[in-house]
Amino acid sequence: RKANTVTKFKKMKQDGNPISVITAYDYPSARLAEEAGVDAILVGDSLGNVVLGYESTIPVTLDDMIYHSRSVVRAATSTFVVTDLPFMTYHGSLDTTLRNAARIMQEGLANSVKMEGGLEITEAVAACTRAGIPVMGHIGLTPQSIHQIGGYKIQGKSSEQARRLLDEAKALEQAGAYAIVLELVTEELAAHITEQLSIPTIGIGAGPQCDGQVLVFHDALGYGSDIAPKRFVKVYAETGEAIRSGLKQYVAEVKNRSFPAREHTYHMDEEVAAVLYG
Ligand code: KIV
Ligand code: NA
Repeated sequence: RKANTVTKFKKMKQDGNPISVITAYDYPSARLAEEAGVDAILVGDSLGNVVLGYESTIPVTLDDMIYHSRSVVRAATSTFVVTDLPFMTYHGSLDTTLRNAARIMQEGLANSVKMEGGLEITEAVAACTRAGIPVMGHIGLTPQSIHQIGGYKIQGKSSEQARRLLDEAKALEQAGAYAIVLELVTEELAAHITEQLSIPTIGIGAGPQCDGQVLVFHDALGYGSDIAPKRFVKVYAETGEAIRSGLKQYVAEVKNRSFPAREHTYHMDEEVAAVLYG
């Protein structure tokens, strides 16, 4: 596979060349993302919500992530793929963390892993980086800690919280992270963190001054029946609407027998029909 590398992302930051990232979870979505020219694909544990129908990312397993990562990589043959380490797979011993991250790389065939958190995961980030596993960080709103955070709300609003997020970003860079997702923080804080780091920031709900942007595939493409509208999401295409109306028409045409029509139907040779049925 020929893809972007972590050094390319740092160069893009230096050159002021914004990094476009979209999530994808399967072969067709990854193929479409690659054809559209995204700089990286994130196999996010958001698949728990948008693909598996869970209420949070917490039930998602390492096996789920590997299964989806493999299908993405089969399509995205020349796009950098980042796969999330799911809930509680990088908080035990460094040994366990390394084994789990290695499974994402060897079985999931990803180019990199992503981990949520700040100071508590810097050891894990450093251990993976030393082992040759590139790590993307993720701070601000971290959905795996939603029960601790207490809801989907903007992070870093007070001066102490803002300073803490900046400290976390710096600590992750120090530990070897090659990029950091900033989720649901103010534009001002995201701009400040972006300016203070030499590695790129990838924003989601973090304003236009990050070095890159990421959105969830199903959110950005209106794909799904229960996608809640969020202020920071722009819907680029109403695919759910297109699919729903296509399916309704299919059902109606089966019911009224207008599908399949002559052009969808195979016929027996006349001689064969004559022999068989007279
Ligand atoms: O799982 C995911 O989709 C993510 C992005 C929102 C950054 O972590
Ligand atoms: Na995630």
